[in-house]
Order: sequence, then structure tokens, then C-alpha cells
Amino acid sequence: MKLSHASHLRGEINVPGDKSISHRSIMFGSIAEGDTEIRGFLKSADCISTMNAFRAMGIEIEEDTETETVIVHGKGLHGLSAPSDIIDCGNSGTTTRILSGILAGQDFEVSLTGDASIQRRPMKRVIEPLSRMGAKISSVKGNGCAPLKIEPSELHGISIKTPVASAQVKSAILLAGLYADSATRVTEPSLSRNHTELMLSAFGADIKAGTFENPTAEITPGKALHGQKINVPGDISSAAYFIGAGLIAENSEILVKNVGINPTRDGLIKVFKAMNADLTLLNEREEAGEKTADILVKTSSLKACEIGGNLIPTLIDEIPLIAVVATQAEGTTVIKDAAELKVKESNRIDLTVNNLKAMGADIEATDDGMIIRGKTPLHHAAINTAKDHRIAMSFAIASLINEDVQPTDIQDAGCVSISYPDFFRDLASLKN
Ligand code: S3P
Repeated sequence: MKLSHASHLRGEINVPGDKSISHRSIMFGSIAEGDTEIRGFLKSADCISTMNAFRAMGIEIEEDTETETVIVHGKGLHGLSAPSDIIDCGNSGTTTRILSGILAGQDFEVSLTGDASIQRRPMKRVIEPLSRMGAKISSVKGNGCAPLKIEPSELHGISIKTPVASAQVKSAILLAGLYADSATRVTEPSLSRNHTELMLSAFGADIKAGTFENPTAEITPGKALHGQKINVPGDISSAAYFIGAGLIAENSEILVKNVGINPTRDGLIKVFKAMNADLTLLNEREEAGEKTADILVKTSSLKACEIGGNLIPTLIDEIPLIAVVATQAEGTTVIKDAAELKVKESNRIDLTVNNLKAMGADIEATDDGMIIRGKTPLHHAAINTAKDHRIAMSFAIASLINEDVQPTDIQDAGCVSISYPDFFRDLASLKN
């Protein structure tokens, strides 16, 4: 995909539904009793992997295109049936890891796998805690990665400290906890996104969410889940690209509507405000514990800032985009405590740094993040995305400020379908 310089970006964007919440609405709807009606479901490749997994286990999921509603006909905690084949989680770490927690509690054997990227990503982080709960879960090739095999077993409640703040790991443990013989507690080094805790509570589970001060979540088994009506807010991780575009493209003003601003996800807003961004939250509201707002963003004179510590889990997926924006900020931006970026869909530290260097930025990789000295002009380059959707979208935004006549070439740009199939259409709609 070739993209050229653009300024005067104007208009409104309705970003698609939140990916994390969409996955969970299918998963929890499937193991709840009765129907779950989902509005605003994100129909992207990752969430379709989750849908297909539950369909393969006997769950009927209807899509009403007229009302844009997805209806999951839940069968209760023990209603899933053995799939006839290995479950293919595609590119989705969320499907692979969270599903492992649910599958650990089933009375049938099942195997999970995914694409080349999934088969490289670390799964020991779920294998170890689930095994401690009594699960029979193993890496088929013995390399700590998918394919994973899960066999029936008795699960026991545990108290566990996870070494990394990961909502996928926390969710897998809490969901296995639903099938255990006593309460399960998970303490994270710092609080990761809490959509599982909020949504399971709405479905009727006996669950306590952690806080930033005390990041321990606790679930007590014994209660059935009941189908719910869910309105999925827009995904702040998708909104991020248009917020970034509005900040760095000349003479721009963009209204991004219905964005989820759950405090475990809103680090991007905090960071951009600290960078002097002209960014206003309008029409703030809340449903089932999930806050949303419309975000008005205008071209800004940005200054550098330091990003690390407890803030990192609240903006982990936005870091490549933040790095692009930081090239346009005066001063030195330091991103640290973000080693997790190396084990995402790609090594996002290396790809972000190498691609921004190719565009002319003054940037260097560190062990746990990167250092960016701004502000520097950017030039055209061939962008290696390694088929990572967030790298492709971050560099589509960087391409808006490429100062050359030659366009920027985003390789394998189709990978945006993982989380945002209409991304390029929406971006084009802002160009006047
Ligand atoms: C997600 C959690 C995050 C995030 C991913 C979605 C989730 O991963 O990067 O895109 O839905 O729980 P980790 O939990 O591994 O940090």
C-alpha cells in the first residue's frame, strides 16, 4: 500500500468495537446460560477466530446484519462440546491464552494452534499457572509455544503472583478459577486491562477486580453466568491512530467518536496530554463499568515526555504509534519498562525503531523500550510490517508527514484486518 503526505485532515471517525471486549463477549456469552446480545461487535480476523472456536465447540452464534447485532446462544459453564479438529486461533494471542483458561475446565481433550506468529509467542505464561491449578496443559512441541494440548483434570483454587502484567494471563487464570474447587487470586506487578473482571461481574460471577493500588483480582466459583446485553465501546487502540494523525498532520481537526476510556486503557490520553496535545474529551458516559467519550483532537506543538512504570500496561498496544508521534515532539522521549513489546504479534521494539530510522527519525532501541529525539522530518521508506497490524497502522500515520514526493510503501498492509478491516477507508475519509 503506497501512502503520500497529507494535511488538513478533517472529519469524524466512528472507530470499530473494542477488540478485547469483543473477544470476551463471545467467550463469556458461550459459557453463560441464555442469550447474549452484542452490539458494536468487532468483526475483525482476531475476533472471528474466537467466534469460530466456540462454534466448533457447539455454540450457535447468529449475526443479524440488519440490527448489527451478534447473538450468542450460551450453553452454560458445562455446555461446550469437544471440537472435531484442532482449534485454529489464527493470529490472536487473546484467543489462544484466554481460551486456554476456559478449556482447562472442560471434560474433553482439545488442542489449540495458530499462525506462524502465534506459534512463536510465549505460552509458558499460561501453561505454568494453569498447571499449578491442576490443569493438564502442554506445549505439543515442548518449546513453550502453541500448539497446546489440554486434557480434562480437576482444578484447584490458588493464589498466584504473575511475573508480567498481562490481561490475557490474568483472564486465563480467573476463567480456570470458575471451574476450580475454591477461590483463586491473581496478583499482577501492575494493573492490566480489567475487561474480564468487569464483564464477568455483569454476567453474575463472584469476582473482585484489582485496583492500581492493589492489583489483585479474586474469583470464587459456584455461581452460574447469565447472558447479557452488551454494547461494545469503540476501541481506544484503534482510535489511537486517528488521534495521532490529528496531532501530527498539519492543520487538522478530527472528532473520534465513542471511544472506550477505561482507566486501564487510557494511558495514551494521559501521555498525549503530558506532551501538550490539544485533545478534548467530550460527552463522557459509562455503561457496565466501561467509560466512553468522544475525543476532539487538533494539530499540536508537542513536547517530549517519559513513559514507563504502571502506565505501560495501560498503553501497551499504542507504543508504536506513540513513538511515531514522539518523532514530532521537541526533546527526548524515553519509553521504558516495555520489554513485553518484544513478544507481541512481532518484536515491536525492533520494527518500530528500524522503520522509523529508515524514515529518518533519531531513535534507538533499548532493552525495554526506545529513546526518540525530536523533532525530525520523516521521509519515504519501504516499511517492513512483518504482517503486524499495529505496525502497519502506525506507519500509515507516519506516512502522512513524509516530506518527499515519493510515497511511503507499507508492506503487507492487508494485515490491518486483524483488528481494523476498514482502517484505510476511514483514513481516506479524512483527506480533503
Ligand atoms: C489483550 C491484552 C494485551 C494486549 C492485547 C489484548 C487482551 O496483551 O496487548 O492486544 O484482550 O487481554 P497482554 O495481556 O499479553 O499484555
